[in-house]
Amino acid sequence: MHFFKEKLASTLSGLVGIDETTLTDWIEIPPDKQLGDLAFPCFQLAKSLRKAPQTIASELAPKLMEIPFIVKAEAVGPYVNVHLNRKEAVSYWLLQMQDNRDFFTSSTGQNRAVAIDLSSPNIAKPFSMGHLRSTIIGTALANLLETDGYQVFRINHLGDWGTQFGKIIVAYHRYGDVEAIKKHPIQELNALYVRFHEEAETNPVLEDEGRAAFKRLEDGDKETLDLWRWMVSVSLEEFNRTYAMLGTQFTHVLGESFYNDKMAAVVNELSEKNLLTTSEGAEVVMLEEENFPPCLIRKSDGATLYATRDLAAALYRYRDLGATSLWYVVGGEQRLHFQQLFAVLSRMGYSFANDCRHIAFGLMKIGGKKMSTRKGQIVRLQEVLDEAVRRAKDIIDEKNPGLKSADATAKAIGVGAVIFNDLKTHRIHEINFSLEQAVAFEGETGPYVQYTHARACSVLRKAGLLSGLESTSEWVTEPLDGDVMIQPLQELDSLSYELMKTISYFPEVRKRAINEADPSLVAKHILDVSQDFNRFYHEMPILNAAPAERVFRLRLTDATRLTIRAALEILGIEHPVEI
Ligand code: ARG
Repeated sequence: MHFFKEKLASTLSGLVGIDETTLTDWIEIPPDKQLGDLAFPCFQLAKSLRKAPQTIASELAPKLMEIPFIVKAEAVGPYVNVHLNRKEAVSYWLLQMQDNRDFFTSSTGQNRAVAIDLSSPNIAKPFSMGHLRSTIIGTALANLLETDGYQVFRINHLGDWGTQFGKIIVAYHRYGDVEAIKKHPIQELNALYVRFHEEAETNPVLEDEGRAAFKRLEDGDKETLDLWRWMVSVSLEEFNRTYAMLGTQFTHVLGESFYNDKMAAVVNELSEKNLLTTSEGAEVVMLEEENFPPCLIRKSDGATLYATRDLAAALYRYRDLGATSLWYVVGGEQRLHFQQLFAVLSRMGYSFANDCRHIAFGLMKIGGKKMSTRKGQIVRLQEVLDEAVRRAKDIIDEKNPGLKSADATAKAIGVGAVIFNDLKTHRIHEINFSLEQAVAFEGETGPYVQYTHARACSVLRKAGLLSGLESTSEWVTEPLDGDVMIQPLQELDSLSYELMKTISYFPEVRKRAINEADPSLVAKHILDVSQDFNRFYHEMPILNAAPAERVFRLRLTDATRLTIRAALEILGIEHPVEI
């Protein structure tokens, strides 16, 4: 629609003497489709033209009628509502899509690299709902940026270092049941951590023991290191199962421990830049001017901290990987940590601190409850995913008992349902997770969108254009040759037109989603496309339409398929051709 906004703005500019860019921004999309395709509000002109907005609107309307691609322009109160010439608009959009003129991909991000910190679960603790959200949102953002030509580093910053490991080690030696741990490592290790805290309430010696154990780890004591390595490997095994299921890919899996040998340099640099202050034996960076509490760099016993490791990691991403901006997809509760981190980087004189972004998100609750691992209340994520897949399978068995690849499809749908449910709301909102709702084929769900994609595939299959197993990102229908496809049509019906118009918003939605780091815009858009397609599919003959209409409607079905497919790929959701 941007193209038509600009064209309209250029005519308006000559009429009202305001620059095109400003006018383009003023032009709106009417909330009700009946009103037209574009609306120009005249409020802002009232002052300079010294006329009532209504008067301006009625004077402008007839002049806009003279623009060739406009079939109707009418004043409605202070607005001029504009209807485009449908055939002209549709052929523009189809050609734009066909030639991929910034439609599915673009190249704004060329020669720029973004490091996205995502997932980042903690060793010896269950993969939480927060880590799930980070994985899902981070992946979608990474995919989005890649469509715009950015190089993206997908970094899993595993929580594999810190005083908690000293505590777990102490509890392991005191209360550990080796057999039980071997059977359910993460669950048992987490239980040991919980037990440590319970016992430490009445037995303060434990805290000292914990610190000493972590010191042994930092000093490289072999036995302690071996135990830690084992915890890392059993945890990763479990995390990797979840990643395999979600289809998550990382370019770098670099735990906090990776920065151990890079910490001294960071502390030195801070000290050389006169940023370190000693406070109660610990070394901190004061952040009074920024109104933040001091950022803890080194404890009195010499142990480094979460923030120190994040500083080293940021410098590594910037200097060694060459990232020009750093994004952190981490829950909103760590807001202060990232404010402090970015403030310290900025005080160190790094201008890339301005290109650091904490991409925060809200809690995911199940049945209205927050899940906390501290209290040992574990939601087993794997169970949630497995259950989603099981339910998807039940639905498939009922709807389409003969489906060949039923298990793979159930996995695509069950997992897709969980992902879509997360991404359809703006990330900052809390989401309440209900399996029944997420897995349903009706409503605003992943399965609904996937089903619509499969339906479009099925139409194309019946037309002999798509073979049973084929899934392609290429068009399977005939290309549009100039206006050849559109011209022979009697007239363009509303349902086809509205579908094409909705699809045409895709590039604008994609750009906005990138700028606002908000994948929910893509999810919402693709729900709109699905709704419009289903309406079109139910009411308009496609395969049995007259020849010119048939060719055009198949092309439109193909356009729908490609758009849903591209959107699902951005969201990190599979797109089965048959459900
Ligand atoms: N492991 C941390 C946690 O679970 C999240 C790490 C986020 N990333 C970072 N660079 N601090 O709370």
